[in-house]
Amino acid sequence: MQIFLDTADVEDIRTYAAWGVIDGVTTNPSLIAKSGRIFEDVIAEICGIVDGPVSAEVTALDADGMLAQAEPLAALHPNVIIKVPLIPEGLKATKELTRRGVKTNVTLCFSANQALLAAKAGATYVSPFIGRLDDQGERGMALIEDIVRAYRNYPAFGTQVLVASVRTGEHVREAALAGAHVATIPPAILDEMVRHDLTDSGLAAFLADWKNARTAADS
Ligand code: G3P
Repeated sequence: MQIFLDTADVEDIRTYAAWGVIDGVTTNPSLIAKSGRIFEDVIAEICGIVDGPVSAEVTALDADGMLAQAEPLAALHPNVIIKVPLIPEGLKATKELTRRGVKTNVTLCFSANQALLAAKAGATYVSPFIGRLDDQGERGMALIEDIVRAYRNYPAFGTQVLVASVRTGEHVREAALAGAHVATIPPAILDEMVRHDLTDSGLAAFLADWKNARTAADS
């Protein structure tokens, strides 16, 4: 499974990219707004930090407007992925961007039927938002399981399932078990994933034993 970082905070991206486990980055208008910086500058800087797909979302609501916004964004760097909302105009834009050879991430997906349409439009990635389904009292991971299962019936679909709106390490574990291609993970969840009390206590014990043995040997 590929791991993308879900943030526009370039300092966080530098920190976690150094771990050597980040394959790409996703942003969205809210994350860009939170950065307080110029959109294009942030995307260009992220592309210089992580050598992988970097999602940059258009904000137009009509296909022509999306295409007009996509062109300069895609020109920022070969790794830029154009993120479009899963609405009819977004499907139109995705179809045309695919025809032009521009990679896309169709976002705000909340049903298997929406994911089927994203694949039919030629989306490179589809982003089902599992946390927001959980917020509604549904089991967001069931959607991932449905989409992975449906896509597997049609090898001609080239669309990758990019699990988004990840809120816990458990979401990541379940996404991997479900066979999702990618999980895009907020920095705080990466910290949750790597840490375990038994790792910390076991390491402390190893180092204490080592120190005691060295002390004995040196006395
Ligand atoms: O990539 C989409 C993600 O940023 C949305 O997460 O927690 O706002 O649903 P959330």
